[in-house]
Amino acid sequence: MAFPEGFLWGCSTAAYQVEGGNEGSNWAAWERRKGLEPCGPAAASWELWREDVRCLQDLHANAYRFSVEWSRVEPHPGEYDEAVLARYALQAKALRLAGIRPIVCLHHFSEPAWLYERHPKGWLTDEPIEPFLRFTERVAAALRGEVSDWITFNEPMVWLLFGYGLGFWPPGFRRALTLKSTFIENGLIDRVAAAHNGAYKLLKAEDPKARVSLAQNVVDLEPARAHVGDLHALQAWDAFMHTHLLDLLKSAGTLDYVAVNYYTRIYVRASRLFPLGALACYGELERALGPRLFRWLGGRRGGRALTDMGWEVVPEGLGRVLGRLHRAYGLPLLVSENGLADATGLKREDFLREHVTAMGAAMAQGADVFGYLHWSLVDNYEWGSFAPRFGLYSVDKDAAYKRRPANGAKLFTQIAKSNASCLAANK
Ligand code: BGC
Repeated sequence: MAFPEGFLWGCSTAAYQVEGGNEGSNWAAWERRKGLEPCGPAAASWELWREDVRCLQDLHANAYRFSVEWSRVEPHPGEYDEAVLARYALQAKALRLAGIRPIVCLHHFSEPAWLYERHPKGWLTDEPIEPFLRFTERVAAALRGEVSDWITFNEPMVWLLFGYGLGFWPPGFRRALTLKSTFIENGLIDRVAAAHNGAYKLLKAEDPKARVSLAQNVVDLEPARAHVGDLHALQAWDAFMHTHLLDLLKSAGTLDYVAVNYYTRIYVRASRLFPLGALACYGELERALGPRLFRWLGGRRGGRALTDMGWEVVPEGLGRVLGRLHRAYGLPLLVSENGLADATGLKREDFLREHVTAMGAAMAQGADVFGYLHWSLVDNYEWGSFAPRFGLYSVDKDAAYKRRPANGAKLFTQIAKSNASCLAANK
């Protein structure tokens, strides 16, 4: 299948996961506190960003989504590092000159440690909104003329669920039993929406032609059983994780397109034991509970091949998700992340081909998708560990962080070069 002219083929990364040296982040403090593998130099992209641009050129990519690290830009409250901002501007300019459209994310999970020293309750209060908007303003001004495509927050619902609901991520709040009241009635999601809406206005004021969205993680959902209760549970989970926030932004008129990160499909089962009456059968939950308890509680997995994250590979789910978002919002769509962790180095090519094919099929049925960004360009820090390998390029830490093409890079290049899905196996 041929894709529309100008279709974006690119990769996504996040500052904290690739740059290295972001010791002022709340993630660095969290790693120490929890004894996690430290992120440390990550993929050394702060120094080696030109190498990353070269990799993108080799891939024939025409888009690159990266994020700016708040704690690097603003190491102390109200003190902005102009050299850091200039460096991000240079990176964006270099990308543009190489024919690669920079798409910049402002908040990708990592936040300055000082934010929580000053405001220990974080986004449970309104306090972080102002500092976030001041940071946004600085970044928008520094990148003026170089960047027109923005993502305010990456996967805010995943970030909030893990950081404010389950306590798996910083700031480590556990509010699982009061998920609905904390997140909806007490305004946690509203606060993020307010921060997004404020950032949207600032970015548009700086550049009226700016295109602004946020990246929502959307999993394909199926009821665990042919059962009306499971269908209701599915709808409740879908509303909570996917549509509640997007609806708020759509009605505020602050979504120019919908950026969607797609990785997998999960089953949902009605269960009074779980928040919102929904047992959402994520691989993570199965791991946390153990497979026996998970199954005893009614958990279901689908038996598909698993990635190294324990996520089922369900390419047609991407097509379904794009179709649903198209029908619900009628906005242009960007696949802002899609990829797999694979240490065998054998599976990415098939994964890529099948997901691009599913995306093409959704487009043939009307979904207005304007780009596909693979997660990720290089192997990087997966929030607590370097073990999962997501990169189209591997990174050799023992050889000065040398990037080497991995499985999938060849096919990606063919797709991007021909602007068409290449169905034949790439042997
Ligand atoms: C996140 C990335 C993460 C990737 C793989 C996405 O949910 O945005 O930061 O590395 O998934 O887990």
